[in-house]
Amino acid sequence: MTGVDPVAGLPRPLRLGVLASGSGSNLQAVLDAAVPGVVPALVLSDKPAAGALERARRAGVATEVLRPRDFASREAFDAALVETLRRHDTHLVALAGFMRLLTPVFLDEFRLRVVNVHPALCPSFPGLNAPAQAVGWGVKVTGCTVHFVDAGVDTGPIIAQAAVPVADDDTADTLHDRIRVEEHRLLPAALGWLAAGRVRVDGRHVRVLPE
Ligand code: GAR
Repeated sequence: MTGVDPVAGLPRPLRLGVLASGSGSNLQAVLDAAVPGVVPALVLSDKPAAGALERARRAGVATEVLRPRDFASREAFDAALVETLRRHDTHLVALAGFMRLLTPVFLDEFRLRVVNVHPALCPSFPGLNAPAQAVGWGVKVTGCTVHFVDAGVDTGPIIAQAAVPVADDDTADTLHDRIRVEEHRLLPAALGWLAAGRVRVDGRHVRVLPE
């Protein structure tokens, strides 16, 4: 069988680090899903007031905050991220609304072990405010993507996508609310596929093996 299993040889359950900058509804979906083979070990935020931190505390999950302004460079910040994730013995990282780009300092440490959820059908509408970009373009269908993270902006190998129709009267917020419903399903599902050893990566292409 061709392709790499990104989590081959790692102990189970996989210890998951979740990086989040915002309200943390995707984190909540992961917590609520109790993904088989995955244990949320740490929630790390770049924003001390992130709602995600409160959700983690309520769930009894360890939290850490690293503020970018306390570091001299993006690389120094990413090195601290790596050190913190290692200290909590995490194997796998989910970006759940983490609004910063990661440098190779981080990505080289967690190659194919960082997944991101993005509120658009990649490669459309990368970066910030994807639902607003979709409304601005007048597209009729958008959605969400769960993908491995590479050094680009929402460009890594795609694990799963879900489509969401755009209504004529949608605003960025109403559209984003419906996209989130799909994200909350897709992100825990993708983490479960990984933990079950069902994901194979071959360059850009990702296959999810049947159960
Ligand atoms: C999610 O929609 C996620 O896809 C998006 O931020 C939101 C966080 O929501 N991420 C990006 O736009 C990254 N490019 P949440 O805090 O409620 O999970």
